[in-house]
Amino acid sequence: MKQLPLYFLLCLAGLLAAWGMALMAPDEATPEHPGLRVYLGEGCIHCHSQYRRPEGVDLQMWGSPSDPVAEADRQHPVLFGNRRQGPDLSNVGLRRSRQWNRLHLQQPREVRRGSRMPSYAYLFRDDDPRGEALLDYLQSLGEENREQWLQFIASWQPEVSLSGGDPVEGERLYREYCAGCHGARGRGNGPVATQLEPAPRDLAQPSGWIWVTPNLAGADRRLELARLIKFGRPGTSMAGTEWLEDRDLANLIGFVDELEQNK
Ligand code: HEC
Ligand code: HEC
Repeated sequence: MKQLPLYFLLCLAGLLAAWGMALMAPDEATPEHPGLRVYLGEGCIHCHSQYRRPEGVDLQMWGSPSDPVAEADRQHPVLFGNRRQGPDLSNVGLRRSRQWNRLHLQQPREVRRGSRMPSYAYLFRDDDPRGEALLDYLQSLGEENREQWLQFIASWQPEVSLSGGDPVEGERLYREYCAGCHGARGRGNGPVATQLEPAPRDLAQPSGWIWVTPNLAGADRRLELARLIKFGRPGTSMAGTEWLEDRDLANLIGFVDELEQNK
């Protein structure tokens, strides 16, 4: 029985130590961003990572790899994730506009034909603040990487020639990835077009384009177009199709050229 006070003291010391550790734990362990709380609550992490791997297709689609040590310090909680039903979202705020993200969260299949992503339209209903909070959070992702991302796009080069693309194959890709916004014949009047401001460009009238340098021809024009199609135009709702291979880009360009000739 003599041991009881000692046992009691040890328990007390243990409790005090646990309390001290709780006080010292960083506050950031609790997600502060209301949009991050929505992200966690809705289970986005079950299908999306936030970590660009230092190898393979990640390097071709999303540029510089994530720095795991810096990210482990920055992310609270850490959302690297190891499951990818959908794309990595670590720099999605640079790659997708707020307008695109809103539309896509509400009607994923309108924006991406056949998408397996569930609709989150309910987050935007009846003045529910969760939808816009989630968008604030998504648009913040990648901000620290903006300069690197723009440089990556500007220096991207295809590994195969972009000339001689097959317009028939290009049209198939166009129907899949572009027509929803730009319309079947490229006139900027796809089913989603009325929900975008500014509207998707008329692809049969390159004189009205503003991002691809006007009056460019040949290989220089194809390169600019390929960069635009693959990576989109940051800050606009012209979103990239980062997963397309160089041959697909060449075929798409072949079809876009035909749209102009047949207008
Ligand atoms: C069941 C799996 C699943 C869940 C859960 C899910 N997504 Fe997705 N998501 C996908 C798939 C698949 C795609 C690719 C097809 C597409 O763009 O719709 C995608 C695409 C995206 C994109 C476009 C990224 C890009 O690079 O094109 C964003 C942004 C996104 N999801 C955000 C979210 C958010 C935010 C949540 C939680 C509210 C969420 N997703 C939940 C499967 C999922
Ligand atoms: C989500 C809708 C959407 C999809 C999908 C889309 N675009 Fe666009 N696109 C736009 C919008 C919006 C603009 C105008 C961007 C701006 O300036 O705000 C645009 C602009 C363009 C331009 C004009 C660039 C310039 O110099 O002005 C081209 C070319 C283009 N898109 C090609 C494509 C191709 C090819 C695809 C398919 C691989 C595609 N787009 C998919 C919405 C879309």
